[in-house]
Amino acid sequence: MARYFFEDQGHAALYQKYRLPSPNEIHTLILNYLQTKKEKPFTLAVDVGCGSGQSTRGLASHFEKVVGIDVSEAQIEEAKRMDGPDNVCYRQGVAEELEFKDGSVDVVTVGAAAHWFDMEKFMKEVDRVLKPKGCLALYCYTVPCILNYDDCPEPPTQIVQELFQTLVPYETNANKIVWNEYRDIFDAITFPDKERAEDIYIRLKKPLLWLVGFLNSSVLYQAYRKEDPENAEVSLENTKQRLLKAMGVSSDTIVEFCIKYYCLLASKPE
Ligand SMILES: C[S@@+](CC[C@H](N)C(=O)[O-])C[C@H]1O[C@@H](n2cnc3c(N)ncnc32)[C@H](O)[C@@H]1O
Repeated sequence: MARYFFEDQGHAALYQKYRLPSPNEIHTLILNYLQTKKEKPFTLAVDVGCGSGQSTRGLASHFEKVVGIDVSEAQIEEAKRMDGPDNVCYRQGVAEELEFKDGSVDVVTVGAAAHWFDMEKFMKEVDRVLKPKGCLALYCYTVPCILNYDDCPEPPTQIVQELFQTLVPYETNANKIVWNEYRDIFDAITFPDKERAEDIYIRLKKPLLWLVGFLNSSVLYQAYRKEDPENAEVSLENTKQRLLKAMGVSSDTIVEFCIKYYCLLASKPE
């Protein structure tokens, strides 16, 4: 089974600190899709691969109950530590064996995690647990790009890309699925009624240091750090210093970032 465990509590804590909540735009997209496919009531949403709950909490106002499921105990612990709405809970479990009864779930969502799943087994489970006309939403995003600094002597995007070049030896099949923007996953969705929502651009303003934390919290960089901690640290610090110099800013300068999201939507036949 293609899984990444986030076994390490430190990585789970980093993830909680630097990964963003799923944007409202994504939850609105999912809800609008669900509303076109299925009538209310919307009683249960399940967020699989919920991590520390970034993708889960934003569903709370639309459903009677939301359950976040993740294989990693460390991530579930982080999710439970966070304040959140009363109708949201978190449990350890795997995507390929969901704990829910047949035909009991209105929507299954997966944010930035489906690339780790055994899609064949996961789809069988989704088909089993969803109510007729219930929906599946799988979404992910690209690395944030820095806006407004394109005319720097060294473009910041290129500096970030160079860090990713050093991470190529640590790439797994899951990373390739992400670089390919979930095209393989789209084909693996067994429901005939399916579509792709692309080019959802979210802009946000954050200190430059946030980007360094974001890169540090990535699975790919953490794989490098695990194998070669000294060189990994040097290359992240080097990336940070080059960004500061090229952009002529300090770590806490507020910078505008753009993140591109894409989302696969599907509906179970009646
Ligand atoms: C990159 S995080 C995404 C977390 C969150 N959904 C978000 O949007 O930021 C991927 C999560 O998927 C979980 N995961 C990976 N394989 C899994 C599986 N087979 N079943 C359940 N969770 C899984 C990992 O433990 C990790 O917490």
